[in-house]
Amino acid sequence: MTTEPTPAPAPWWRTAVTYQVYLRSFADSNGDGIGDVDGLRGRLPYLADLGVDALWITPWYPSPMADGGYDVVDHRDVDPVLGTLAQADALIAEAHARGIRVVLDLVANHTSDRHPWFTAALAAPPGSPARRRYHFRDGRGPGGEAPPNDWTSAFGGPAWTRVEEPDGTHGQWYLHLFAPQQPDLNWDDPAVREGFDDVVRFWLDRGIDGLRVDAAPALVKAPGLPEFDGGPAFAPATWTDSPHWDVDDVHEVFRRWRKIADGYPGDRMFVAEAVVNGPERLARYLRPGELHTAFNFDYLHAPWQARALRETIDSTLGAMAAVDAPATWVLSNHDETRHVTRFGRPTGARREPADLALGTRRARAAALLMLALPGGAYLYQGEELGLPEVEDLPEHLLQDPTWERSGRTVRGRDGCRVPLPWAGSRPPFGFSPDGARPWLPQPRDWASLAVEHQRHTPGSTLLLYRAALTLRRALPDLHGPDLAWADGAPDVLVFDRGSRFRCVVNLSGEPVPLRGHGTPLLTSCQQTRHELPPDTAAWLTR
Ligand code: NOJ
Repeated sequence: MTTEPTPAPAPWWRTAVTYQVYLRSFADSNGDGIGDVDGLRGRLPYLADLGVDALWITPWYPSPMADGGYDVVDHRDVDPVLGTLAQADALIAEAHARGIRVVLDLVANHTSDRHPWFTAALAAPPGSPARRRYHFRDGRGPGGEAPPNDWTSAFGGPAWTRVEEPDGTHGQWYLHLFAPQQPDLNWDDPAVREGFDDVVRFWLDRGIDGLRVDAAPALVKAPGLPEFDGGPAFAPATWTDSPHWDVDDVHEVFRRWRKIADGYPGDRMFVAEAVVNGPERLARYLRPGELHTAFNFDYLHAPWQARALRETIDSTLGAMAAVDAPATWVLSNHDETRHVTRFGRPTGARREPADLALGTRRARAAALLMLALPGGAYLYQGEELGLPEVEDLPEHLLQDPTWERSGRTVRGRDGCRVPLPWAGSRPPFGFSPDGARPWLPQPRDWASLAVEHQRHTPGSTLLLYRAALTLRRALPDLHGPDLAWADGAPDVLVFDRGSRFRCVVNLSGEPVPLRGHGTPLLTSCQQTRHELPPDTAAWLTR
């Protein structure tokens, strides 16, 4: 008699719900108004109770904070404002003890301008090995006063800054696709590749379960840095054949890192931050031997419309299946307007005032839709509380480089980075000890959104997320890769998973009867048993 070998369980990252921690805004343990590693350690019971499988922690490295920590001075340490390496080790161990994996940001496209590699490059002459780690070029025109090419920065303005040479003369220019304080590394230089091999090993040796690859498509530039008429906006989702984005040779870097990660036990993974032109280009990052998963920005940017969502879901599933990678789903992160506010704009236009009651209703439905889809999901801290974007931060407090680089016309991303409300009736809402002032001010009316309040409020968004995550774990139908669409009324999404699970999402303007769909397990709107009002969703068992 032969026995079938038991199939190995799928690696955790194929179905994980990962919670993004924007560390400075999560929880402040020492009263300086800035969230820190020990603040996060203290809240691990909350995250375990919420039911997430993993954390992705935004950069905690020493940084002058020109771009929220994405300007790194030392990739092997923790900024003293945020904690110590010993505290980071303790966090990793304590998260693991609670069954939570830890993913860290890997910022490899650029360093801080105060990184020792860059200060050495500035002190060295043109053409030197120290300058070769970055992209230094002579300017164009007489005296070299024009930038070497026409590339623009993601935060506005030219992607080049001119340096003063050690002898005081105007000198070469260096490339920065982001802020001037974030010079781009030259990934054609073996010293850069080897340096980052060591960084990857450093964190994998410390027990990190995965790395999020920041700005993955930017790493490698086309030889000769040719001109690029990319249009007035930095819009990688629309670009084809850019000389500085999604260049084919970038994939060599990922194959190199994958080999390193495969040498470690325990399903280590990479998740790519890669805004590129469509799911087929994205799937190239996830080919066998490259990265494991990627954020789904097409899904994050999809409007609250049945057809658009269904098309994005189908194109994602198709493209990911072709490379045997799991799909992922995400609604918000630290760079995007929070989705309660986005979905609250009736036509979706950027400057339109948001109807937060509408946005909250849709956001709750969107959570049930996202968590019912096959693959992994990413939650951004505070979405489980239904936090909106803070759109009225005083201008003098704005910190995002976008604000200054746009000539104070684009406020940037601070509104989604406001510190979390944990408890109490007024700021700092338990984020910091009483009396401390959080680094960005919290709205005074956030008391009813605070964790402690929602924990005891039936029907709160926090309890909805917790119930959804509990069910998602408990229902084997939600663990496979399958999804089958079923018939629904116009603008109603209906799909089945496994043999018994059904999800119904009503994006129409009319109530939809639930009769015939099964017995409700969970709904995004409390009163619902027999019909789904507009902008609500239900999980059912058939
Ligand atoms: C993507 C990060 O998410 C964003 O916050 C940062 O500004 C850029 N990469 C540059 O590192």
